Amino acid sequence: RRATTLHRLREMHRAGEKIAMLTCYDATFAGVLDDAGVDCLLVGDSLGMVLQGRETTLPVTVADIAYHVACVARGNRHAWLLADLPHGSYHASPQQALHTACELTRAGAHMVKLEGGATWAVETVRFLVERDIPVCAHLGLTPQSVHALGGWRVQGRQAAQAQALLAQAKALRDAGAAMLVLELVPSALAAEVAQALDIPVIGIGAGAGCGGQVLVLHDMLGLNAGSAPRFVRNFMEGSTSIPEAVQAYVRAVKAGRFPEEGVHTY
Ligand code: KIV
Ligand code: NA
Repeated sequence: RRATTLHRLREMHRAGEKIAMLTCYDATFAGVLDDAGVDCLLVGDSLGMVLQGRETTLPVTVADIAYHVACVARGNRHAWLLADLPHGSYHASPQQALHTACELTRAGAHMVKLEGGATWAVETVRFLVERDIPVCAHLGLTPQSVHALGGWRVQGRQAAQAQALLAQAKALRDAGAAMLVLELVPSALAAEVAQALDIPVIGIGAGAGCGGQVLVLHDMLGLNAGSAPRFVRNFMEGSTSIPEAVQAYVRAVKAGRFPEEGVHTY
């Protein structure tokens, strides 16, 4: 198996192959996920919640992300490695974003992800991409904005909101974003965005019309069963080991069997 590059991800997308992404925070899991054929590993700021036990992702620092990126990078051999720019580490200026992004690329990240689609975020994406840092954008429910958004709720339900999201997605693509995560948006809107863009759109709670899927590792292993959102499927059900569960996730995503419309979608 060859290493997954940005070029390879674009080829997969053009060929209609779905991209399987999971969050990952340490070297052991990086090896397991890589061996199971996960295309992309995301060191998400969700680590604030699943590893640190916090209520939101807001307290996560650049040092936290950098530490986990370095751990994951040591265990990973083939997967494309994304790192979240945490809250407050890219909002002040494109220069601040570049500084943060370089800290994470030094730790081993191949691509950085940032939340938002306002003008400042589009400008920040352009600034990073012009300097050859691959960027993944993130729209819909953007957890760093949870307080401003008024909670963990589905985004883009009203027509005006949906049109704004589509316009932001196009602006981020035009600015050079090579990938877009869409979180907690109605399937129909996510499919429309995925159709409108030529870059992979990776959904989480966004339906099967996306070019790929991502889940939080702990959620898909059923460790959060009591309070998991409806878009999560516990892949340990029907599996006898963690590697088997991760393989089942990869197979289900590639075959378009996960997420299931009406079960995991809005
Ligand atoms: O932090 C994270 O895990 C994420 C994914 C849920 C997309 O941003
Ligand atoms: Na995140």
